[in-house]
This record gives sequence, C-alpha cells and structure tokens, in this order.
Amino acid sequence: MAEVVIVPSAAAAGVLVAAEIVALIRRNRESVLGLATGSTPLPVYEALRAQVGDLDLSGVRGFALDEYVGIDPSHPESYRSVITREVVEPLGLNPAQVRVPDGSLAGIEHAGEDYERAIRDAGGVDLQILGIGTDGHIGFNEPGSSFASLTRVKTLTQQTRADNARFFDSVDDVPMHCITQGLGTILRARHLVLLAFGAGKAAAVAGAVEGPVTASLPGSAIQLHPHATIVVDEAAAADLRLADYYRYTFDNKPAWQGL
Ligand code: GLP
Repeated sequence: MAEVVIVPSAAAAGVLVAAEIVALIRRNRESVLGLATGSTPLPVYEALRAQVGDLDLSGVRGFALDEYVGIDPSHPESYRSVITREVVEPLGLNPAQVRVPDGSLAGIEHAGEDYERAIRDAGGVDLQILGIGTDGHIGFNEPGSSFASLTRVKTLTQQTRADNARFFDSVDDVPMHCITQGLGTILRARHLVLLAFGAGKAAAVAGAVEGPVTASLPGSAIQLHPHATIVVDEAAAADLRLADYYRYTFDNKPAWQGL
C-alpha cells in the first residue's frame, strides 16, 4: 500500500520531503533526483534551500519529468526554464547534471529514447517527486497512458491545457504536445513521493490512492510501486476513506524508517 501522510500545510509537506532528500544525499552524494514542475513541488524546493546548509550538492544529478514540445527552451514557462529557476540555480546544482526532456522539434522522434538511456546511464532515479493533475495525470501521462509507457510524445488534454493556461497569456499559447517520462519510467524510480494540495486535487488523490488501478487515472500507477509516499494537506485528503488509518499509521511509524 502507498503510505499516505496528511500534513497541515503545503509548507509542512515541503519541510518533510526536503528532509528526506537531504538524508538521501547524505547517504549518497551522487543521488539522482526526479524533479517535477508545476506549483505543487515548490514548497519542497524552498525547504530544500533552507535545509541544505553546507551539504555538498555537486554530485547530485536530476531528471525532470516532462517538457512541452516545440516551446523555445528560453521561454520562461518551458520546463527547462522552470527547473533552472526553481531548482538548479537556487540550490547551486551543476546544470550539466540536471536534464530535462528535449522538446525541440528537431530530433523529437528519438528524444524519448535518448532520455531513457540517460536515466539508465545515471543508474536510475533514487527519489521521484510527483504532482498530480486534476484529471489524475502524473508527469504529463494523460488518462489512457500505458503503465508500461516510457518517455515519449503525448497530446495534452484540453483540461490540462486549461489548467496550465495560468502560466501563459492564454490557453491557446499552451503547447498541444509534450514529451514526458512514461508511467513505466516513473515506476522504475526507487522511491516515489507524490504531493498534492487543495480541494481541487481531492478527487484525483482519492482515485490514485484508493481507486482501482486503471490507465484512466494514471496516478493510480503508484499502487503498483513498492515504495510510494503520498503527502497531502487536509483539503487534498478530504475524499480519502481511510484518512484516519493513515494518520494513525504515520503517528506510530518507527522513526528509523524515514518517509
Ligand atoms: C502539470 C505537470 C505535472 C504536474 C501537474 C500538476 O501539467 N506536467 O508534472 O504535477 O500538472 O500541476 P500543479 O502542481 O501546478 O497543480
């Protein structure tokens, strides 16, 4: 079963997950982080900045989940720009060691395979941060995505484009295609940490954690993973039937287990 941790706020979630990442890097200075974009992981990156102190991050490697296709990498809302702005620069990571799928049109046919090879060559992702879309997507794996899928080009749903329109001038400016790690890629990471905040995510979270495992709700793939941690605030936890059990379990969790 995925472990669900219900926290009072997004900031508290950030502190908890950042502590886990710091512990990971202390164990292995060459840890490979799976980085997510969107608004959800921002408190994690913020807390990480506060917690790293004098920890040596020069060996840390990173792989972003996804990118828009056809967007100029220098566009402020390309995921390359977002990862640079929110993660690489503030933490002082080595930019050469943090990859984002290549969404350029030239070479897009093999960009997925190239990315898979790069992840494999790095030894795989140790800890994958995930958000979840209101339609249950993780990465940009929209409903219907195969659980065996690897990094590839996908078409965004209108709902996702509308959700992401807030980052652009209008919904028409949101690219129609993306390149995303597949559900199969994500499931290979050694630890999945999915975060969700706010009432708008409650249905997707309940479906992912307690609903049937179905490609119709890609986030439900986490149920197939042996080490998945779901960190949610009260609003995002509102539709979870077993919320009291999750609280009880976490309150009685042996400290040595970490997240
Ligand atoms: C975006 C990203 C996902 C993200 C999700 C939720 O489209 N591709 O990786 O998890 O949608 O976004 P937010 O965290 O802003 O709610």
